[in-house]
Amino acid sequence: MSEAGSYIIRGGRPGRERLRVLAGVLAPTTRALLERLPVRPGDRCWDVGCGGGDVTVMIADMVGPAGRVLGTDIDPAKVALARAEASAYPQVEYRVGNIMGGAPDGTFDIAHARFLLSHLTDPGAAVAAIGRALRPGGILAVEDVDFSALVCCPDLPAFRAYHDLYIRTGRYRGADPLIGPRLPLLLHEAGCTDIHIQINQLAEPDPTIKSIHVLTLENIADAALQAGLTSPAELDAMLTDLRAAVDDSSMVLAAPRMVQTWGRKPR
Ligand SMILES: C[S@@+](CC[C@H](N)C(=O)[O-])C[C@H]1O[C@@H](n2cnc3c(N)ncnc32)[C@H](O)[C@@H]1O
Repeated sequence: MSEAGSYIIRGGRPGRERLRVLAGVLAPTTRALLERLPVRPGDRCWDVGCGGGDVTVMIADMVGPAGRVLGTDIDPAKVALARAEASAYPQVEYRVGNIMGGAPDGTFDIAHARFLLSHLTDPGAAVAAIGRALRPGGILAVEDVDFSALVCCPDLPAFRAYHDLYIRTGRYRGADPLIGPRLPLLLHEAGCTDIHIQINQLAEPDPTIKSIHVLTLENIADAALQAGLTSPAELDAMLTDLRAAVDDSSMVLAAPRMVQTWGRKPR
């Protein structure tokens, strides 16, 4: 399975619009991570698997006009959309790039990857490639899901079916939707020191957070159908029940658990 083939979520504009919703929900926790690293004015940063560039521009605001931010992603359509949205940021550059093909030239102060490693068949090789592009003493920060840790109350069979389908579809493509707790080990194996970990799980009555699950199911539908893991009728039934749960203010649907890990390349 090629790395592009292990990505189970729809690409292009629909994929970018899902990422925009996700980015709005996760902005406070990602900003807190970036401030803790810390990202500083003038830093040279790399946002790996940048998607629509939501984190890339957040980093750009922190490094300011004296800094540089490179965003790379395997999906040319998302890179083009990101570039169009960031025209007011001269410190930002976007390039199409597959992390499994290696790192771009440059020695970065900070590299960051959110929701990239859970989609790769060899996340350890990706972490090693990212680490090589850091300057000695540079910081590598990754954020990713632990999809085993979903919360739905009261119990909803459609939610359990969606949860199971997401994990099976990712694994069918050789990816690891449960990667979150493995992240510190991956940084350790790449030679990082001073490793930290923070675990977050957002849950609000806010329908936006709950709607992430509907958007995710809509956007993995093609991959799940291609893998023969579900049928159009099953998908429709799941989506109907999940949409009703989003609209039901008494239902608790937490976002997936997020693991943030960061460490330093030895000097
Ligand atoms: C779930 S999205 C997250 C995007 C962004 N980091 C964010 O948090 O908004 C994962 C991104 O990784 C990209 N991707 C998947 N495999 C990749 C690879 N091998 N190299 C580079 N990017 C990849 C996808 O195209 C997608 O845009």
